[in-house]
Amino acid sequence: DYNVPMNDKGEITDFIRIEASLPTLHYLLDQGAAVILMAHLGRPKGKVNPKFTLKPVAEALSQLIHRPVQFCPDCVGKDAQDAAAQLRNGDILLLENLRFHPEEEKNDVHFAKKLAALGDIFVNDAFGTAHRAHCSTAGIGTYLPSVSGYLMKKELAGLGAALSKPEKPFVAIIGGAKISDKIGVVSYLIGKADTIIIGGGMANTFLAAQGYDMKASLVEPESLDVAKETLAQAKEAGTDLLLPVDVTIAAAFDAPETAKTADIDAIDDGWMALDIGPKTIALAEEKIKNAKTVIWNGPMGVFEQDAFAVGTNALAKAVALSDAYSVVGGGDSVAAVKKSGMADKISHISTGGGASLEFMEGRLLPGLAVLEERED
Ligand code: 3PG
Repeated sequence: DYNVPMNDKGEITDFIRIEASLPTLHYLLDQGAAVILMAHLGRPKGKVNPKFTLKPVAEALSQLIHRPVQFCPDCVGKDAQDAAAQLRNGDILLLENLRFHPEEEKNDVHFAKKLAALGDIFVNDAFGTAHRAHCSTAGIGTYLPSVSGYLMKKELAGLGAALSKPEKPFVAIIGGAKISDKIGVVSYLIGKADTIIIGGGMANTFLAAQGYDMKASLVEPESLDVAKETLAQAKEAGTDLLLPVDVTIAAAFDAPETAKTADIDAIDDGWMALDIGPKTIALAEEKIKNAKTVIWNGPMGVFEQDAFAVGTNALAKAVALSDAYSVVGGGDSVAAVKKSGMADKISHISTGGGASLEFMEGRLLPGLAVLEERED
């Protein structure tokens, strides 16, 4: 998965996904393979768009792997066929963004066959894209012997260790703006986790469902019933849903200078909750300190602004300092852990955003299903 973040100048701002692909590439090259790399960047909606070219990735990879990386301006057609045919053992070729073709995301049979025709073996190392049933992740596996790469294996082992037989107490930290994005993972963890710490905007909807007046905070009215049902399910299953008892509030989203703490039953009229408060942090720290397994997906507040990053940073520190086996997934929470300077203290940091979330929901990812079929 070379879907890497870029700034306005088209420069890559985080190289983790490229670095994470190196062990598999080194192995293949050491075995004398010629490697054809397929990837997507952004969401160009099936059209060629220079903003989403993978060319900068070819340059970055070349520097990281200390070898030339050839680049082909299309992923199918004569150029790609010729470039693939001319490869010698030990060569690396990166094809242009798969999503410049609408067929890729439709998992189109003909397009999958064209991709498959370029090589002999399909190695899927794109854990980050394994939740998409696209030609390059799923369809191609029908036409070639298909195996997982080292990153894929590492991700499955790292996430699987936390989810399959977690050592108890098992604490999950789930944050993010919307309940609708995270309800799947919360439901899956009820009955498995001892405690689920809920933060971020989604906590507001749970609190509103309990009858608190969240004033101008983000609340999803359409999710209030789901929130009530989830609270009831957790109670029945004996899973403790730890919701904020206090929050950091501000007069407006873009007014961090007004930030102050309020108990959840005392939010000022017209103000909004944008982070968890100190009493909540202390309660969460206590749970994390005693945990043997911790998984985390989603920030506790609007952590992009320092005034509302206190909860997320405090929990990142608590997870890092605990003896628990810890797994962090999801772009925002990974960014938060890195920002807190504690990333190297986490047992497994996933390169998957949506993929790690779907994995934590207990789903079989389409990009894995095809590999498992082949390996059976
Ligand atoms: C990701 O970054 O989560 C993956 O590359 C998938 O990207 P997508 O959400 O655009 O399908």
